[in-house]
Amino acid sequence: MNARGRNTPGRGRPARPSRPARPGNSPRREDQQSRASREEARAREEALSPEAKARLRELRGLGNYDDDRPGDYGTDPGEDRDNLVDVPDGVRLQKVLAAAGVGSRRYCEELIGEGRIEVDGQVVRRFGARVDPENQVIRVDGKRIPSRQDEVYLVFNKPRKVLTAMKDDRGRSVISDYLGDRAERLFHVGRLDYDTEGLMLLTNDGELAHRLAHPSYEVAKTYLAEVPGPVPKDVGRRLAAGVDLEDGLAIADKFRVLEQSGQKALVEITLHEGRKHIVRRMLAEVGHPVSRLVRTTIGPVKLNDLRPGKTRELSVREIGDLFASVGLLLLWARKQEGLNVAVRAVRGAIQVDEDSRDAILEGTAELVSEVMSRNDLTTDDVISVLFTVTPDLTTEFPALAARKLGFHAVPLMCATEIPVQGAMPRVVRLMAHIETAKPRSEVQHVYLRGAAALRQDIAQ
Ligand code: URA
Repeated sequence: MNARGRNTPGRGRPARPSRPARPGNSPRREDQQSRASREEARAREEALSPEAKARLRELRGLGNYDDDRPGDYGTDPGEDRDNLVDVPDGVRLQKVLAAAGVGSRRYCEELIGEGRIEVDGQVVRRFGARVDPENQVIRVDGKRIPSRQDEVYLVFNKPRKVLTAMKDDRGRSVISDYLGDRAERLFHVGRLDYDTEGLMLLTNDGELAHRLAHPSYEVAKTYLAEVPGPVPKDVGRRLAAGVDLEDGLAIADKFRVLEQSGQKALVEITLHEGRKHIVRRMLAEVGHPVSRLVRTTIGPVKLNDLRPGKTRELSVREIGDLFASVGLLLLWARKQEGLNVAVRAVRGAIQVDEDSRDAILEGTAELVSEVMSRNDLTTDDVISVLFTVTPDLTTEFPALAARKLGFHAVPLMCATEIPVQGAMPRVVRLMAHIETAKPRSEVQHVYLRGAAALRQDIAQ
């Protein structure tokens, strides 16, 4: 027990009025009962068809449906008691909170001290409480932290001379050698060569892994390579223009020389490619064969100072960013109970320079990109887009610009506006329906160039 925390009056949230005690039910007994009924509910849920389970999850994500909060019969979270029984071999509460991305351990201790953490419906103010993050429901300010029961997302720093595999008939060192009892549930996303080191993502989330590995969603990956130096200036240009390999052109998004000393150079290269030995082949093709290769970044996830052979959990933020990078932000939002995703409308307008095809396409592309980036949207979040143009724009459909930006699966429509006398000329407008976790007041409407004058109330 920690003297600072336990039995101090609640400071975080106002206490709810206590329920009258139920005869014969001590808080401990109620806790055991609610745990047992949760266990039953979980077992019932396990028995559902995959479709029913998916629907149930969706419902949980969309509304406040919540069948495992023992609100009606459990102890009142507002009360000062802490009857939580430590789970044998459990993990310290602050560690679980920190691993879920709530904040640093120190910050999590403050939250515990402030009475803002509930475990299975009970406020816990002990720093040392040991909990089971897979089976207990943990809430911060009433919002559930993601259960790690289903999905695991890890960064692994693969050492050199480790095979990208979970087992090997020839007895070589493999990833599972570094994972202890987690290994059988996890698989690796993509591959690194036997001699390549660095960042690998490990997960049991098939949908995310599939998207990350799919060529149409290839996220950017960054590598550090040791190569023979000096590296002439034109190498970066050649790599960016694309080098011809036996299986087709390979293009670097970015290339820079980080260090040159004598006969050695350290370079950094970023690309969206997943082909075998791609970095080694590209650099060899431009005359700089790789002697050491380390992957440092996959999309929004960085290796940072994780030591070789070690793993770390992705933070909630990294997982969210990773889902977003492959168009699954909405799915992630729905996985987070308590985060309500709503359909909202977003508006925008831009004035183009002239009635020409190029001006309409370029202006519309700018407008669409701004609406998307200011509202953190991917095309998967967009339900439909209606474009309208003033009657003086007749040379191209603005929807074509959206198609070129990848809105292939989004229903689009174009219409001419009412010819109002004195209205601003050459304006393309859009109204999109989107799915977003943002409240209505945070949706960013976008008015660009001359059209900014139409909505001076909105800072652009
Ligand atoms: N490119 C390579 O050449 N090797 C790797 O392991 C990864 C990318």
